[in-house]
Amino acid sequence: MYDKVMESVEFINKQINIKPKIAVILGSGLGNLTNFIDNATEINYKSIPHFPQSTVIGHKGQLVAGNIGEKEIFVMDGRFHYYEGYSMREVTYPIYVFKKLGIEKIIISNAAGGINETFSNGTLMIIRDFINLFGTNPLIGTNDERFGSRFPDMTNPFSEKLIVLAKKIAVDFGIKYSEGTYLGTTGPSFETVAEIKMMKTFGADAVGMSTVPEVIISNYLGLEVLGISCITNMATGLSKVSHSHQNVIKEAKKIEHDFCLWISEIIKNI
Ligand code: HPA
Repeated sequence: MYDKVMESVEFINKQINIKPKIAVILGSGLGNLTNFIDNATEINYKSIPHFPQSTVIGHKGQLVAGNIGEKEIFVMDGRFHYYEGYSMREVTYPIYVFKKLGIEKIIISNAAGGINETFSNGTLMIIRDFINLFGTNPLIGTNDERFGSRFPDMTNPFSEKLIVLAKKIAVDFGIKYSEGTYLGTTGPSFETVAEIKMMKTFGADAVGMSTVPEVIISNYLGLEVLGISCITNMATGLSKVSHSHQNVIKEAKKIEHDFCLWISEIIKNI
């Protein structure tokens, strides 16, 4: 895997003449952040050696390199989900590539269902902690010490420094936010009423089908992580309407403006 990662890195480096230290992964329906990028170079995932392909509607499947303000960044417009049939290694492959490209900080976003009953459609949640309910772990398998240690610590998977910055920017720009625990599960079926009740007793505030594998690998590789959930619907049993991916995209689009403003200002001030 190490050699594959280095081939992907070499290919990407040939397409760009910048050296970003910040990367962003965009959740479903949140791709508009790419419009905030100056001097953008778009690299289709298909063209990158060893990169998996994105198959979900609302996810474009391109890596965008460029500037937001003075800061150089990479943005992943489209991510890889476990429910698409990728292995955990494939789901998290781009994080390994980011590390070897020189990334130090990563902002990981998602669309999620609200479990905390103080939330509603459009709530932006800073992720303070996570629960891994994927039933597996992206680090299972032989460990390559060139990437990280066998048993990475998860006491603080999200950077307190980045959380403090995110809160300050939110206050400065009048963006409302909440904080909570994100529970990651495989999907692709939405949760049952009984499952949401269980997740609530577990201490989850939001549920989604991504992010957890990427956060685990980011910590393993020593990246500082900021996690943001966009609540696109209240979870099963807490919502009067049934769920659909179209609805998730539609609701994400409504939050996109605040989300993009927030993330771009965080990046400028990192
Ligand atoms: N459940 C799981 N994933 C989601 C949801 C949900 O309710 N909404 C958006 N992603």
